[in-house]
Amino acid sequence: MANRFYITTPIYYVNDVPHIGHAYTTVAADAAARYRRMQGDRVFFLTGTDEHGQKVEKSAAGHGIAPQQLADRVVVRFQELWKRMNISHDDFIRTTEERHHHAVHAIWNRVAEKGDIYLGEYEDWYCTPCETFLTETQMLDGRCPDCGREPERLKESSYFFRMSRYGERLLEHIEKHPEFIQPVSRRNEIVQFVRGGLKDLSVSRTTFSWGIPVPGDPDHVIYVWFDALTNYLTAIGYDSDEGKFHDFWPADFHVIGKDILRFHAVYWPTFLMSAELPLPKRVFSHGWWTVEGEKMSKSKGNVVDPYAMVDRYGPDPFRYFLLREVPFGLDGDFSEEALVGRFNSDLANDLGNLYSRVTTMLGKYCEGKVPDSSGTAEMRTRGEETVRRVDRHMGDMSFNKALQEIWGLISEANRYVDQKGPWALAKDPARADELGRVMYDLVETLRLVTLLIFPFMPETGEKAAGALNLPSDWCDAASLAWGGTPAGREIGKVAALFPRLDAKAMKKERSAAEAAAKDKPGDVEKERDGREVTLRDFARLDIRSGCVRKAEAIPKSKKLLKLLVDIGEETPRQVVAGIAENYGPDALIGRNVVVLTNLKPARFMGIESRGMVLAVEGEKGLVLLGYHDQVLPGRKIR
Ligand code: MSP
Repeated sequence: MANRFYITTPIYYVNDVPHIGHAYTTVAADAAARYRRMQGDRVFFLTGTDEHGQKVEKSAAGHGIAPQQLADRVVVRFQELWKRMNISHDDFIRTTEERHHHAVHAIWNRVAEKGDIYLGEYEDWYCTPCETFLTETQMLDGRCPDCGREPERLKESSYFFRMSRYGERLLEHIEKHPEFIQPVSRRNEIVQFVRGGLKDLSVSRTTFSWGIPVPGDPDHVIYVWFDALTNYLTAIGYDSDEGKFHDFWPADFHVIGKDILRFHAVYWPTFLMSAELPLPKRVFSHGWWTVEGEKMSKSKGNVVDPYAMVDRYGPDPFRYFLLREVPFGLDGDFSEEALVGRFNSDLANDLGNLYSRVTTMLGKYCEGKVPDSSGTAEMRTRGEETVRRVDRHMGDMSFNKALQEIWGLISEANRYVDQKGPWALAKDPARADELGRVMYDLVETLRLVTLLIFPFMPETGEKAAGALNLPSDWCDAASLAWGGTPAGREIGKVAALFPRLDAKAMKKERSAAEAAAKDKPGDVEKERDGREVTLRDFARLDIRSGCVRKAEAIPKSKKLLKLLVDIGEETPRQVVAGIAENYGPDALIGRNVVVLTNLKPARFMGIESRGMVLAVEGEKGLVLLGYHDQVLPGRKIR
């Protein structure tokens, strides 16, 4: 019977749109999941969103909408990104789903029956952005050690989990299972923390209501981490589908970032011990990305948008870069220069070149058919070794080493071409056998490379498999054995898979785009010339019908008006429009307008604007766009 393999990503908060950090964890888990599937395992790969908690509640309030509405809006950004990045998750869990509510109550009740939950009073510092309580000793100069912000002082009635009961058992477990916390360098940090003594943990809150109520005491909502961690049980049927649950639990890997290791390697195992459930086999915490040497942050404006990376370079080069550039587990630095560098050297030169030269030569010297040969022992050994080593590295989540191995084989094959010179062999009929062996070696190596890169670059893998005319079951464990290409198979020429990028031109284009983003109309004009957009580009603009509900002048401003525009959301949007010279506030009330709704929020004269009302420059100034027939607010304009 096939092994089963259960791997998870963290579930992402919906108070923010996806960034490179989210993409990173998810791509890593995806590569591991795809690799296990190729090995024939029954894989369950889970990702999803963390939708409860004060953080989400506050953020929604800031947008003037209900938390559920915020979640519904942001979740799509994650789901669409995963589609575009070819993430192959088997389930996407949202903590606001009924199935999750059920599982959280089930585990809460089980822990409570154990006598591990009691009512007390909590007073401490709380860091809302990190959703975590802090003791005085954990704070650095009165600030949260993780995000550097000032925590709030909270005192409230709270249910507590008797975490203190489980410290010894947890230490024993960590000692007995050295693989439990990975990489090893992080294990010590957790051991120190647990040795310092585990205190009981506050697991309910009364100061806000966006969460799952405590069973039997709805004034309390369950602590967001107790709620969130349980997602790993919910999705595989805890307390609802016993068969599936026992099949997949315990998880093989929780893949997470280093910032949330304590929740996964201390809190989570103690909850599970209390509920008498086995612990996950491994918790792997990866490092963090900085951007061109700096910490990524909204205020610095250097947050890397994965959508932009996929648009610019394609999903595979972005995926490849994330896993190739930095050893999984260590911190790394992101820059587009480095990405373009890898693209040109590893993908265009090494990989793309190998596909195109081998298939071109096969066409020229072997009539496009695989020769009747089994290749040389030398290349066979090289190929088999690579497959073995990649397997070992994948087992350790050493993605960059696995990729180094694969690229070692690619370089070897490129060298082999230069060394053997098939063009010379082809000229000498007495060396036809040798030509056959060499070409077989090369075609077979390409086939193995195609399989090995597939978990990292699924689109390229599929494309190459098609070009090499591989059968439909090309991507399984048996196919990883040398010798799978039959003689006589017809193979067409593979066109350049990764045409080289012009780093200089791209940099120029980027700075122009950045200037445009800074809202310099002159530069925007320049940018527009000669640049075509695709329908996909256009579809990124969310333009909707709107109706002005309120309009007022902004003191000291000749041009600006503050509008509240109904675009079908729960409350009208606040938009600042530069139309005061052409329209008085009263003339606008009830008027139909066209609104760009997903423009990055900006402030004008200290007033927040979340969108843009579209207008055309007429002879005598701006004229608002509108429509004649009756249209409800919030309809998409296409
Ligand atoms: N909701 C919690 C997880 C609950 S899991 C039961 C959460 N969500 S998050 O959206 O804030 O972050 C999710 C992941 O993104 C974490 O693994 C975190 O490490 C990762 N990253 C956030 N910023 C990052 C970088 N700059 N670099 C790499 N990963 C980073 O935490």
